[in-house]
Amino acid sequence: MDVAIAVYQARREQVLAQLGETGVAVVFAAPERVRSNDTEYPYRPDSYLHYLTGFPEPGAMLLLDGRTRSSTLFCRNKDELHEIWNGFRYGPAAAKEAFGVDAAGSMDDWQSSFQAALPGHTQLYALWGRYPQHDTEIMAIWHEVRNMAAYRAAHGSTIAPTGLIDFSAILDGMRLVKDASEQALMRAAAEISAQAHIRAMQTTRVGQFEYQVEGEILHAFMQRGARSPSYNSIVAGGKNACCLHYVANGSALRDGDLLLIDAGAEYQMYAGDITRTFPVNGRFSAAQKAVYDVVLAVNEQSIAAIRPGADWQLISQAAVRLLTEGLVDLGLLHGRVDDNIETQTYRRFYMHGLGHWLGLDVHDVGGRFDAQGQAIMLAPGMVTTVEPGLYIAAAADIPTDFHNIGIRIEDNVLVTSTGHEVLTRSVPKSTAEIEALMLAR
Ligand code: GLY
Ligand code: MN
Ligand code: MN
Repeated sequence: MDVAIAVYQARREQVLAQLGETGVAVVFAAPERVRSNDTEYPYRPDSYLHYLTGFPEPGAMLLLDGRTRSSTLFCRNKDELHEIWNGFRYGPAAAKEAFGVDAAGSMDDWQSSFQAALPGHTQLYALWGRYPQHDTEIMAIWHEVRNMAAYRAAHGSTIAPTGLIDFSAILDGMRLVKDASEQALMRAAAEISAQAHIRAMQTTRVGQFEYQVEGEILHAFMQRGARSPSYNSIVAGGKNACCLHYVANGSALRDGDLLLIDAGAEYQMYAGDITRTFPVNGRFSAAQKAVYDVVLAVNEQSIAAIRPGADWQLISQAAVRLLTEGLVDLGLLHGRVDDNIETQTYRRFYMHGLGHWLGLDVHDVGGRFDAQGQAIMLAPGMVTTVEPGLYIAAAADIPTDFHNIGIRIEDNVLVTSTGHEVLTRSVPKSTAEIEALMLAR
């Protein structure tokens, strides 16, 4: 399911058109990160560099020159000794062929090439703040070019950039709408994630440790071709589910508790992000089911509202209303629904948003508002999570049946031209479906 080189070329062309004759842009590879002494975390390429090139190695940089309308990829040189110890490197010559860039160079030379590219442009685009070391390097070079009229003249122009611009202003808008190749990869990431949740439901037993369930999930990801989770898996039994980003995954699973699993596969750089909540012993208690059905109704009604032109803010507000009504019906909030919404008492039990964009990053780029502060309406090709939840910590004013019930139900939804497609639909969601699956263990 590899993405064709032409897709990356078309994205670069689209960027170059937006840069115009006066813009020059740079994107760097992510650095490798030390895990312990001289060993690193598994390498994860930068999402932006991947989006524009598909190039998978660290020590790389893409230069997009609006004046010459060309893209140059700088990367590490071939190195026999390094390749024996640490693996294959393309090197500039092979990289130029394989990734279809106009030119390629050694990363040893990027600074002089970048410097030579500045004269003649008025705007320098970079992902400022992303890799501070590179900010320092490009600012120093830019500053030097600003101060050296003779250098500029020698490179054919009296001008150099006066505008230092955030490149994400161009790239995030492109990444927000997924093209056909991205949609195919996201469908695969979602389906792999769904199968892993099914496996977790099938294999969970009372007395297991949370990390053992995590192991089943990672196993299912890798067996289906996803080398990595798209974020640290949350496997949270009982009260641990009331900690939103619980990743310790170190407790034993207890009879009568719920298990909340928030885990997604990363498939060819694209994220799945699913949450399901199910009983460790396979049967929901009455209180657990009552809370579950409130969250499920919000999940389903929110998804039903997703279509082109829909306003995410209104969908989120409707979710708050439904959750608050549910909390009042359950006896966990008191008084009028409107008053509880007004004073935000529901936030004790629902303290996060309804969802986020999904793509190369699990919390994908772009935000819900445009550069003018206007809400972005849903449009075909956008992918959002829908993830309502209720988290009821033990407290003196809460009936004990409800203590430590933490429930989130999260799906991944593609906006289509006619409505939506639930990418994560394979994994059971109703209490009856979940109990039936677990009964068959
Ligand atoms: N897995 C993180 C989230 O759901 O936002
Ligand atoms: Mn999510
Ligand atoms: Mn999630």
